[in-house]
Amino acid sequence: MNSEEVPPSVNLLQSMRSVGYSLGAAVADLIDNSITAGAHFVILDADVIEGKYLAILDDGRGMTFEVAREALRLAGSVGDREDSDLGRFGLGLKTASLSQARCLTVVSKRAGVVTALRWDINFVRASGKWLLIVLDETEVSNLPLWSEFDAQSAGTLVVWHDLDLLLGDTTQPGAFVAEQLSGVRSTLALVFHRFLARRRERLSITINGVSLRPIDPFLSDNPKTQRTGPEAIDIGGVEVRVEGFTLPHPSGLTPEELRRPDLGNDMREAQGFYVYRNQRLISHGHWYGLARMNELSKQTRVQVDVPPSLDALWQLDIKKSQALPPQSFKLRLRQLIDPILDRGHRVHTFRGRRESTEVAHVWRKLSTRDGFAYEVNLESPFVGSVLSRLEAEDAERVVDLLQTIASTFPFMDAYVEVATNAPVNTIQPEREVILARLTVIHQSEILSNDPAVAVTQLIAVEPFNTVDDLRTLVDLIWKGTNAAQ
Ligand SMILES: Nc1ncnc2c1ncn2[C@@H]1O[C@H](COP(=O)(O)OP(=O)(O)O)[C@@H](O)[C@H]1O
Ligand SMILES: [Mg+2]
Repeated sequence: MNSEEVPPSVNLLQSMRSVGYSLGAAVADLIDNSITAGAHFVILDADVIEGKYLAILDDGRGMTFEVAREALRLAGSVGDREDSDLGRFGLGLKTASLSQARCLTVVSKRAGVVTALRWDINFVRASGKWLLIVLDETEVSNLPLWSEFDAQSAGTLVVWHDLDLLLGDTTQPGAFVAEQLSGVRSTLALVFHRFLARRRERLSITINGVSLRPIDPFLSDNPKTQRTGPEAIDIGGVEVRVEGFTLPHPSGLTPEELRRPDLGNDMREAQGFYVYRNQRLISHGHWYGLARMNELSKQTRVQVDVPPSLDALWQLDIKKSQALPPQSFKLRLRQLIDPILDRGHRVHTFRGRRESTEVAHVWRKLSTRDGFAYEVNLESPFVGSVLSRLEAEDAERVVDLLQTIASTFPFMDAYVEVATNAPVNTIQPEREVILARLTVIHQSEILSNDPAVAVTQLIAVEPFNTVDDLRTLVDLIWKGTNAAQ
């Protein structure tokens, strides 16, 4: 048997760039390395003036030349890992960096010795070889965050230059980077929220001078948050912890919480499982097909802690932004989440039509001691015009009928329909019907005799406020009747 060594072509470095990292996920991958290296702080400095670089400094244990060289090799460090290691494939530093930039510089200090290495895609392509550039200290002393790095006894500085894939075809690189940073902030505040909120050994992350505050997706400090569990699910002798959280109704949120997009407009997309590996959030925003992402469950978030020994079963991806549960686990999970979802349904927020004081609605919303109710608004000009033409006894019967309809309206059914996104069809009455109604209104003499004025009054009266050619119809009735008089 013959064999031949076929090492990967240098084009691999180029191909690897398209793994599909977002900037936030790429930066998170570098911070994983900092945390694994025992860092207490991470400083990110991005060039928001010219968009030329992005640098990340940590105070971790740093690397010797040998370790750094191995760190920059693709899949270089996949040997034995400690259980708490946030890394996995030995690819993060390289793929995450090169997914954004053409040039990756790593400067590290260990026991006072500085090592500086660089992958430069242009250089590798030009030489056709896997040539890692070794820099000396004078060549790195003008890097961003150098003086901070220089002052530390150990740590690692990672710098990205030539941010081609990050910038794309933007014509305003500085402004673009600044805009991207705000997304990075919220991603990191969520992904590392447990580290940022620790009482001991708390991690500090500073982005362009502003330190990050953790975003706790479960509002565990809010007394109105309801918890279900925790429960442990056994998978082949390994424990996965699951805990359900039902977030408070918006009325129970603090002003600061109300400003959070994931508790406001984006709340619906933020429901579902939050899967953690070694305290770090891997994925969120879905139910793995076990529940629907609907309005009724939007208060529900389920925390799942998966130990790294189950990586393979959970199909952890290279970007560490996805993990799929094994089938056997899904079944168990399904049983667990049902009662949690039930609980969430009871807290549902009802977003009715925005009440405008300007429109005289046919319906009126009443706040009762333990909730709300609707009744027909007898002061509505439309209702009033009908009632005013009836004998007292008849009027009473009609009112009784209207309020019975109001109080027995199938709200829950309507709510579920709307919540599951069935389109609401408002039945538009025929022209004849509207004309008949306008006649009644006109005859009741509630409104002005002048059609122009009457139109301005009717524009704010249900159901006439939705009629397209109201002016024409009013003219027809008002003038027609006037002429008849
Ligand atoms: N900030 C850092 N501090 C110390 N060591 C680091 C740092 N970043 C990377 N390394 C080293 O480089 C190796 C490769 O990192 P990476 O490519 O992200 O793969 P992985 O994290 O899966 O091992 C790490 O295992 C670690 O030894
Ligand atoms: Mg890593």
